Amino acid sequence: MQILVVGGGGREHAIIKSLKKNALVEKIYALPGNGGIAKDAECFPIKANDVDGIVDFAKNHKIDFAVVAPDDPLVLGLVNRLEDLSIPCFGPRAEAAIIEGSKVFSKNLMKKYGIPTADSETFSDPVKAIEYLKNSSYPTVIKADGLALGKGVIIAKDFDEAKQAVNDIMMDKCFGASGNNILIEEFLTGPEVSVLSFTDGNIVVPMVSSMDHKRAKDGDEGLNTGGMGTVAPNPYYTEAVQKECMEKIFLPTINAMNAEGRTFKGCLYFGLMLTPKGPKVIEYNCRFGDPETQVVLPLLESDLLDIMLKTSKGQLSVDDVKFSKGAACCIVLASDGYPQKYSTGFEMKLPLDSEDEFIYIAGAKKDGDKLLTAGGRVLGAVAKADNLKDAVKKAYAYSDKIYFENAYKRSDIGKKALMALENN
Ligand code: AMP
Ligand code: GLY
Repeated sequence: MQILVVGGGGREHAIIKSLKKNALVEKIYALPGNGGIAKDAECFPIKANDVDGIVDFAKNHKIDFAVVAPDDPLVLGLVNRLEDLSIPCFGPRAEAAIIEGSKVFSKNLMKKYGIPTADSETFSDPVKAIEYLKNSSYPTVIKADGLALGKGVIIAKDFDEAKQAVNDIMMDKCFGASGNNILIEEFLTGPEVSVLSFTDGNIVVPMVSSMDHKRAKDGDEGLNTGGMGTVAPNPYYTEAVQKECMEKIFLPTINAMNAEGRTFKGCLYFGLMLTPKGPKVIEYNCRFGDPETQVVLPLLESDLLDIMLKTSKGQLSVDDVKFSKGAACCIVLASDGYPQKYSTGFEMKLPLDSEDEFIYIAGAKKDGDKLLTAGGRVLGAVAKADNLKDAVKKAYAYSDKIYFENAYKRSDIGKKALMALENN
């Protein structure tokens, strides 16, 4: 089979390496991929949100199956366009991807179908929003409606900060049209859990749970990033919590999307907060998380391509998806200064991989035989082990063997999870 993977980060590298395990795969194209992915797939410099360019590429290459990984092309309707050409895809159509594309849509869906989430109000008028904020309790949460590169959520500790956020988003349009509408949302507390799931529109099969570390600095300080590291499984996500989530969140969400005529097929990501009043949805993503995928897929024992094909056909069964009992940890190595200003173009020296230790490249370009850094997040160093403690230890030891000038990593990935395990 000839496979097309849209996207070019660490998540896509992890997906491609998993897909390659299936003997049916003859060739994988990555658009745009990156210099590190080029070892595992043929990369072409077509951007992931260049829907027309990708459709043309797919027409000219005999693509048997396409995997659309990032949010933008999904929300823009790339899957609709490829399916119109009779190219089967893994990923939701635009009418279902809206569950991530519009936070107002997803909030209304949850309210209508009784899915637990933070209380909130929607505003299209900044004056009314600021009036409302005068009587809010703090901290409060302000969210831009549309996609904002993961930066559209502001936690305001007082009225002044909240007012500033409304001005930035709605008047100065710091996230463009994504800020035409905003949500003002109740501030929730509790451990966060990421649960990725496969759903074919009929059933929903959760993958192993994970924990992201979004802030740039140790101790969850510093700016929000795309994610500085992950562990799986997430120790807060017990079997009892999983059962509750399935009954109150996962199945009701799939059923709600069907009832709205927006059947979701693909990977539905539940961003959850385990509050004192039970699990609540913080966000939905219409795709695999990055860097969650980098710890989830290494623990998948079943064949990823088989699962994806069955998902796209609406023929998935629970038995198709098996995870190992082990654990995994991903340490992101970034260019120092990320998520703000940073330099790139430094040569990377990488250790050999093994069965249990490997690297997913997120931002790199080739220069002859050399691999140079080319992004904020450069790579993820991943290790698997029988338990979380060993996985974290191995991932850090492995990451210490990686060298490029300017490399930055957090030193406490997994710390919170290990403390939770000890307290259990
Ligand atoms: P999101 O982009 O929706 O995942 O939000 C980014 C981060 O903001 C989440 O991972 C949470 O840590 C935090 N967050 C979002 N919504 C809330 C909320 N209602 N209460 C507390 N924290 C929140
Ligand atoms: N790691 C969070 C995300 O992919 O949005």
